[in-house]
Amino acid sequence: MSVEERPKLIVALDVETLQEAERLVKILYPTVQMFKIGSQLYTACGPQAVQMAGRAGAKVFLDLKFHDIPNTVGNAVLSCTSLSCVVDSLDPGFGKEIKKAVAYPVFMMTIHTVGGQEMMRFAVNAAAERAKELGIIRPKIVGVTVLTSDEQAENTQKKVVAMAISAKQAGLDGVVCSVQEAMAVRQTCGKDFIIVTPGIRPQGLDKGDQKRVATSKAAMEAGSDFLVVGRPIVAAADPLKAAQGFLLG
Ligand code: C5P
Repeated sequence: MSVEERPKLIVALDVETLQEAERLVKILYPTVQMFKIGSQLYTACGPQAVQMAGRAGAKVFLDLKFHDIPNTVGNAVLSCTSLSCVVDSLDPGFGKEIKKAVAYPVFMMTIHTVGGQEMMRFAVNAAAERAKELGIIRPKIVGVTVLTSDEQAENTQKKVVAMAISAKQAGLDGVVCSVQEAMAVRQTCGKDFIIVTPGIRPQGLDKGDQKRVATSKAAMEAGSDFLVVGRPIVAAADPLKAAQGFLLG
């Protein structure tokens, strides 16, 4: 498999402080080009976390997993899209009036597919509308299906594929699922549909709370576009060496 065809590694910055997140980005970039900012870091430091990654030259996967009424999710997505334009500003009043897009750090974000098609459509339309106003590329929106911390059940694959079909119909760019369902989603939704797989663990490493885990090699073979890895890299004594191990499969 050529380097271009390999899935890209996203490291989850699941830490509590901006300083700790910045330390990891400095160690890992440019070997790792994209970082996931989730509810822990975003709750602690908000847009500053996105700005920090953007300043370093990295892209951001903003994993806030929105699930609410369509109007609320649409408005949240508007705000997330605007985050691409505040990299050089510490002014927290981000919004459409800030037109200076100095970087495009928010490459991708998440919403829950269980929110339904209307909610998903509101999200995509909001991202497109705000991106157009700002003159930036619309961030990709991917839908969370069945969490990788859920046990494998008899109907998991069927459920995930149905959620992926619904997400595609609503205009989403892809889904988040486990490696176990990646191939079925690829076969159903086609080659351009983004597949993001968390729950990646080297053979024998502690799974933590994750249940539907797989190795990065299995994720590559299943056709995943992006691997999300948190604790095995973030908590490693040598995070760069750990990340390089995932990049090699
Ligand atoms: O530490 P670990 O590698 O398990 O981290 C996985 C990351 O991916 C976490 O930040 C988690 O929130 C996220 N994630 C997940 N399963 C999903 C969606 C996101 O594990 N279905």
